Amino acid sequence: MNNTKNIVVLASGGGTNLQALIDAEKNGGLGCGKITCVIASKPDAYALTRAKENGIKTRILARKDYADIDTYSADMRDALLEEKADVIVYAGFMTILGDAVCDTFPNKMVNVHPALIPSFCGKGYYGLHVHEEALKKGVKVSGATVHFVTAECDAGPIILQKAVEVLDTDTPETLQRRIMEQAEWKILPEAVKLLCDEKITVKNGRTYIGGK
Ligand code: GAR
Repeated sequence: MNNTKNIVVLASGGGTNLQALIDAEKNGGLGCGKITCVIASKPDAYALTRAKENGIKTRILARKDYADIDTYSADMRDALLEEKADVIVYAGFMTILGDAVCDTFPNKMVNVHPALIPSFCGKGYYGLHVHEEALKKGVKVSGATVHFVTAECDAGPIILQKAVEVLDTDTPETLQRRIMEQAEWKILPEAVKLLCDEKITVKNGRTYIGGK
């Protein structure tokens, strides 16, 4: 029996989280998962170069070519179905997809968010903005969250979280980097492995880890 799960990664930018997934796969760290395609929402996303360098198929679905999110989401759903995606990973993917995608892949899509949800999340909280707001608030601890994607932004069931210390000397850039290194690049591959190996159960909006 072939247990392999096709992982499709969605990215918009530098793709360091994609790189963490590629490295994990090479070291056997994605369990039954195999990255089979990377889809970028921006034609110049460096994530595309990382994918090509590692022999992974790439596709571009440019958000700017679409007038509204519903037609974009419908084409994204079709692309994901064409790619026979079993698991979909938002790795620095900056577009909030609509119901067409969320309804087709329930509990199959995960996102990494650079804060401890429910802090500093939701519409408008992405990339460096998240860290700017955390520093403005003066939190002593921030971190990262991997959660299932639902129609509501950053509100799906939480799978893994990791806390990271905030330093008095931090800038948004240094905090972003430390959270990536100490949290995102670790818990994203870990959560993807759990999902590919069917170790996550969702019940009443919560996840339970350890299999059925
Ligand atoms: C990462 O910090 C990721 O958590 C964040 O953008 C960065 C992308 O980096 N994602 C979001 O803010 C999504 N709401 P990468 O392209 O190098 O992986």
